[in-house]
Amino acid sequence: MPNYSLSVNGKTMSVEADEDTPLLWVLRDHLNLLGTKFGCGIAQCGACTVHVNGSAMRSCVFPVSAVADNEITTIEGLSNKGDHPLQEAWIELDVSQCGYCQAGQIMAASSLLKDNPNPSDEEIDAVMTNICRCGTHVRIRKAIHLAAEKSV
Ligand code: FES
Ligand code: FES
Repeated sequence: MPNYSLSVNGKTMSVEADEDTPLLWVLRDHLNLLGTKFGCGIAQCGACTVHVNGSAMRSCVFPVSAVADNEITTIEGLSNKGDHPLQEAWIELDVSQCGYCQAGQIMAASSLLKDNPNPSDEEIDAVMTNICRCGTHVRIRKAIHLAAEKSV
């Protein structure tokens, strides 16, 4: 089985996996980074969203062989103490309900704010296509606006 050297949350990690193993399962099963969730497995729900070189990617359809030379960030590596402006805004506005989708939502939102530090409602809705079965989308939008204000 091939061995891959991955840069995850600023650390270099070595993983033995089949080349077509989705990054999601490498993160969860090999590296025990359980914040990234499995929802659909077909790039539709966004529960598995991580950053690859700073951009949001759905890790369930991304083979490990395609990311070996890239910087991967998971929810565990978004900030040192869970104090990213989005994480603070999420807590302040009590965004989460069951919580299952929320790591993916925050990773998608942080990629959005990197590209667009002060997005409109329409711009948020266009990018935030992650599904939340608990219907937290309205609070997510508010939290993104709050995080944008905190970041100024
Ligand atoms: S689990 Fe990857 S998009 Fe749904
Ligand atoms: S908070 Fe439950 S699925 Fe989003």
